Amino acid sequence: EPKNPLRTTDPGTIEMLKVAQENKLETVFDRFVAQQPQCGFGYKGICCRICLAGPCRVKAEDGPASRGICGATAYTIVSRNLVRMIAGGAASHSEHARHVLHTAHELVEGKTKDYEIKSPEKLHKLAEKLGIETLNRDNMEILGDVTELAYEDFGRYKDRPAAFLDSFLIEQRHNKFLNTNIMPRNIDGTVTELMAQTAQGVDADPVNIIFGGLKGSLADLVGEYIGTNLSDVLFGIPEPIVSEANLGVIEEKMVNIAVHGHNPVLSEMVVGAARELKAEAQKAGAEGVNIVGICCTGNELLMREGVYLATSSASQEMAILTGVLDAMVVDIQCIYPSLTQLCDCYHTKMITTEAIMKVPGAQHLAFNSETAMEDAKKLVRIAIEAYKRRDPKKIALSKTRNSLVAGFSIEALTDIFGKINPERPFSVLTDAILSGQIKGVVQMAGCNNLKRQQDESHVAILKELVKNDVFVVATGCSAGAFAKMGLMNSEAVEEYAGEGLKSFIRQLEEANPQLSTKLPLVFHLGSCVDNSRGMDLVQAMAKELGVDTPKVPFAASAPEAMHEKAVAIGSYCVSMGIPTHVGTMPYLEGSDLIYGIATQIAHDVFGGNFIFEVDEKIAAQKILNALEYRSWKLKIHK
Ligand code: SF4
Ligand code: FE2
Repeated sequence: EPKNPLRTTDPGTIEMLKVAQENKLETVFDRFVAQQPQCGFGYKGICCRICLAGPCRVKAEDGPASRGICGATAYTIVSRNLVRMIAGGAASHSEHARHVLHTAHELVEGKTKDYEIKSPEKLHKLAEKLGIETLNRDNMEILGDVTELAYEDFGRYKDRPAAFLDSFLIEQRHNKFLNTNIMPRNIDGTVTELMAQTAQGVDADPVNIIFGGLKGSLADLVGEYIGTNLSDVLFGIPEPIVSEANLGVIEEKMVNIAVHGHNPVLSEMVVGAARELKAEAQKAGAEGVNIVGICCTGNELLMREGVYLATSSASQEMAILTGVLDAMVVDIQCIYPSLTQLCDCYHTKMITTEAIMKVPGAQHLAFNSETAMEDAKKLVRIAIEAYKRRDPKKIALSKTRNSLVAGFSIEALTDIFGKINPERPFSVLTDAILSGQIKGVVQMAGCNNLKRQQDESHVAILKELVKNDVFVVATGCSAGAFAKMGLMNSEAVEEYAGEGLKSFIRQLEEANPQLSTKLPLVFHLGSCVDNSRGMDLVQAMAKELGVDTPKVPFAASAPEAMHEKAVAIGSYCVSMGIPTHVGTMPYLEGSDLIYGIATQIAHDVFGGNFIFEVDEKIAAQKILNALEYRSWKLKIHK
């Protein structure tokens, strides 16, 4: 039973939940309760619906009822279900990437005038990494070759590894993935193969299925590398930036537009359009247009533009309950279809923008890169119109907003560390680990999942880690949780960091007087596709230490994993040799064998493994143990 009947620990959400209760408005928190108890077979992963002879359930320990009609056993059913989630995750991240890629391609073809190469520096760095000639070449020509190669990564039929993975790998991981046969040569083919492999009457071998899944997870990473890098080229490399988070950033005097989902291609334009249409908003009686972000679209804009982060996934509905949100503009992923139900009770306009993402009751405005700015202006004007129809009786503002510092791309971290050691920036991090000043690095990621109290696990694990001198980087709604709670700023360093971490962060600040801000307790790496930045980080550390990734004191944690994308991310983290904590159980407890593969055998083969632990204190301890073991081994070998 929850300690807090509200099922959230986020103060902004608690304020708004009272409004929902007073007005008898249904939210995700009610629906979660209404779903209890959830299906035990589904929970354990032993319900198979892959063919029409089913659904089959594993109902007994042995005998005919211990298998599906076709004879599939628990381990086959569990592993198939699990890797199909990875296929779903890889498809999601790569569709996001494909959209960014199409936009870059349209730019090369001269079909859009609204985008530009915002960071030629990143373009050159990326091209060099990919082995594309840059000397004496025009930027557009270089980008043309980069997009060509990225398209090949989606559909390559020749037997060579996907470039947007392989070029980012250290040699040891490259060899490991080739030797274990999980190196993907493309994205689309890998996802299709995984669906075919797990169809009725195909693969029944759980190890082979899981390895297929790991290949799928690496295809997911290909998509993330494309998404992150091309977004940096088009919209700029994130740099340290200050902003604010939580529902209090939705301001009464402004026309408020929430941009929600994952893809920066549209939302970056909305930010531009909002600046241009300020006068129109003022004519309508507002002071201007206030863009606020939700989920990863929010993270993308926060990282590059300093746009306020209104809230994260489980509390997305709450933005509407303020009564002053004029438009909810969504792109893809993690968007609750229930949003329209709440918009109906308010003046708020809900607008979908992507061909594969429509919701009954929402207005659809197809967004095209050729007419990007025009489309974005239409969206802003819809919000200005809606602003005039606000109902003053329904206004219930949140008072919660916290300051934050975000924008820590690998380039930004390299600059910061480079002020101490310009030749070997990442030695600053690894030396601090070897000297015992900090214990290691943890990448916190993932969603909200109401099986836990919203954000409680993110926050509890973070506090435990930083108290024990762990350097924490964060992405997605985990970063969102910290931002909303005021844990992503300098005051939080004072309050929560252990002495070692505190001295490390202060040392970085002293070496970086050019920064206009002090450094935060936890370093925001970006959106969910930017988990790829974390893979760059762990490999930079490995290079610095002269070891493979399984020896680096680096761990990952997704305390409230929810989406299929999180299953894919967790799986590539394990393939990358990282101990990976997950705080909400994936559907695998129906097979001890699969549980064993995920937690033990994976470790023997890849050096990384899943740590499934729902208790925050114990989870933090297990993560700390994993770090400590690795640094202890490093120190005796130095
Ligand atoms: Fe049942 Fe086998 Fe069909 Fe699954 S694939 S539904 S276990 S018959
Ligand atoms: Fe996300």
